[in-house]
Amino acid sequence: MSIKNITLEKNFLALAPMAGLTHAAFRELVASFGGCDLFFTEMLNVRAIVHQNPEKDPYLICGKNDRPLVAQLVGREPELFAQAVARLEANFSFCGYDINFGCSRGAIQRYGWGVSLMKEPALCAEIVAAVRSATQKPVSAKIRSGFEHNREKLISFVETLIQAGVQLVTLHPRTAEEGFRRPARWEEISWLKENFPSLKILGNGDVFGPQDAQKMLAQTRCHGVMIGRAAPLRPWIFRDTKSYLAKGEIPPGPSPQEIPTKMWELISQYLPEELREKRFELWLFWFLQNFPFGLHYFSEVKKEKTLAAKLEKLRQILSRERLRPYPARPYLLR
Ligand SMILES: Cc1cc2nc3c(=O)[nH]c(=O)nc-3n(C[C@H](O)[C@H](O)[C@H](O)COP(=O)(O)O)c2cc1C
Repeated sequence: MSIKNITLEKNFLALAPMAGLTHAAFRELVASFGGCDLFFTEMLNVRAIVHQNPEKDPYLICGKNDRPLVAQLVGREPELFAQAVARLEANFSFCGYDINFGCSRGAIQRYGWGVSLMKEPALCAEIVAAVRSATQKPVSAKIRSGFEHNREKLISFVETLIQAGVQLVTLHPRTAEEGFRRPARWEEISWLKENFPSLKILGNGDVFGPQDAQKMLAQTRCHGVMIGRAAPLRPWIFRDTKSYLAKGEIPPGPSPQEIPTKMWELISQYLPEELREKRFELWLFWFLQNFPFGLHYFSEVKKEKTLAAKLEKLRQILSRERLRPYPARPYLLR
């Protein structure tokens, strides 16, 4: 299947955009295991892209193997979207642009960005048109259910996006107020599939292991699956899911103590010094949720004063730990 310049296989797997987590180093970690067909950056503020030097912006650092890579954009002024895309087109080689109409975090909604734009479909259409005016590449949108679980409203919103030129929609079927509470309502992904036969659809929400991905594909008939929170816990989940979908087998997992070292090496390679420890700890907070005492481990590691001591502490702790079978479900959010 292809969307303009991007060719994707049936049942493709995508790494979700996650602020603070899906930077170049983490995407490279995921790519090193294989299995991920489409990468998304964390959300990129269009105003920052327009007003800062893109070459010095750490959010715009790309890896070597995190391809195809889609830039996810957040904001609300159509003209800033157009200017931001023009700048990205001139300086980078993203394969497409995704518009964030789904983030429900408080600050994002207060600015009138993310999911709050789902209340303004006409403005969303203008944003899509602005992005399209600045690129020939595919334009996609990531949405939630909206502000209620209402089939007609969801269909009408997606219709507006399609008419404005969106070729791929990712649906995280929870409302803005639900945050991560209550299970994602995968049946809403099927609504899109039933109504829009030529739209490419990425299903998202509560895929915590290969078996969940298989169930989502079977239940909703979506074209691909996007994985978010389970990825920082198991960056090799894409490899495992690919193998499970093809052969019904999950390969043996890596030893837990290898992963933080690998992650730190990639962070040192890709991210500027002032961001490294912060990004490492943010990821570690999620990774340690693979283990029942992960939160305790996290505080033990944080107590250490130097980075070398932190890595050594982690090695000691993790040498006693084993990864449990899927699902890899985080038990806390941040
Ligand atoms: C820490 C964190 C940061 C996120 N940042 C973004 C973001 O930048 N853009 C976006 O569209 N969604 C963002 N999301 C939502 C995810 O992309 C995804 O839709 C959500 O986590 C549901 O998928 P999951 O159940 O596989 O985690 C974020 C989620 C988390 C947990």
